[in-house]
Amino acid sequence: MDARRAVNVPELESLARERLTDTAFAYLVGGSGDEHTLRWNVEAWSRIRLAPHFMVDVSAIDTTLRLLGHDLVSPIALAPTAAHRLFHPEGELETVRGAAAAEALYIQSTLATVPVSEVGAAATGPWWFQVYVQRDRGFTRELVARAESAGASALVLTVDLPVLGARDTDRRNEFGLPEGLEYANFRGLPAVADELPPERRVYNPHLDPSICWPDLEWLRSFAGVPVLVKGVLRPDDAVQALDCGADGVVVSNHGGRNLDTVPATADALAGVVTAVDGRVPVLVDGGIRRGTDVAKALMLGASAVLVGRPYVWGLTVDGAAGVKLVVDLLRTELEMAMCLLGARTLAELTENLIWD
Ligand code: FNR
Ligand code: LAC
Repeated sequence: MDARRAVNVPELESLARERLTDTAFAYLVGGSGDEHTLRWNVEAWSRIRLAPHFMVDVSAIDTTLRLLGHDLVSPIALAPTAAHRLFHPEGELETVRGAAAAEALYIQSTLATVPVSEVGAAATGPWWFQVYVQRDRGFTRELVARAESAGASALVLTVDLPVLGARDTDRRNEFGLPEGLEYANFRGLPAVADELPPERRVYNPHLDPSICWPDLEWLRSFAGVPVLVKGVLRPDDAVQALDCGADGVVVSNHGGRNLDTVPATADALAGVVTAVDGRVPVLVDGGIRRGTDVAKALMLGASAVLVGRPYVWGLTVDGAAGVKLVVDLLRTELEMAMCLLGARTLAELTENLIWD
């Protein structure tokens, strides 16, 4: 089926499967362990029932918001995902074009397959840079400087991946970047060989397992833009992040790709919102596939949501146009949901619209 015939986001997954190698598709859709959290992420949103108000004039719906200095047309942003040239020949260059066409904030991954300087040069809309702290802290500091000079207007420190989770399918497929692709931001970083056999490997050369809260303070000390923390599930970690200077928090379990059987983000969100108590924006990702999921996230106190796999399906199927299609489908469904809920603005998406 042609991408443009897709009438909802989930339909794009099977279209992407047709266009990818088994290994690339498995890396994209896979989770860790027995994939309970992967499944729970999607299911948890559908378990939240809605309590609509009717007889509200919904002839004008406003989905705009201001987020860390940006005026955005909708609360739907693109989560950092690695290695876009696995999914489209132009990689992150095509993604950033799609984000701009969709008027959506894009968070570019450290593990991009196009250098951040080139992606920044191609960007015509707002974008943030997701940071994996390297063992070589000097390298990380230099990479952050490159990202900021390329136009990153915030940094997103990912804290939930000191090591990769049990990615059984990727191990079975011996997943790695194919010939001709590279983690372009790591040029000049000495490769760390892994002597251990696959069945004994815990650590990953691209991730520093020693990262801890003082590293957030260190990053905050030289960053010239706001710093958000991505991968928070516990309220006490959210408070710790704020105490170390975080300007925002992303409630995330990495799309169920790290520690299996952590809760769905839909179940973790409210506790973090309560602990943060409005001091900084709280974003959420994981399993967002419908406009109603976006609405529910905002009712639970999120300022915005990130989508991961869906826009990569779109990128795979139709490049920038596919990325835009995903955002447009979600945005339209959000507006429909707001009309049917009696919520004319994002501020009117409150918890009392959830059916107890
Ligand atoms: C990711 N994610 C991720 N997160 C991050 O901080 N840095 C990264 O480089 C990546 N890479 C990555 C690759 C792929 C293929 C996927 C699917 C995910 C996690 C991502 O930012 C986000 O947390 C989840 O994808 C959100 O869940 P959904 O929307 O995919 O269900
Ligand atoms: C992943 C890492 C790269 O989820 O963030 O694949």
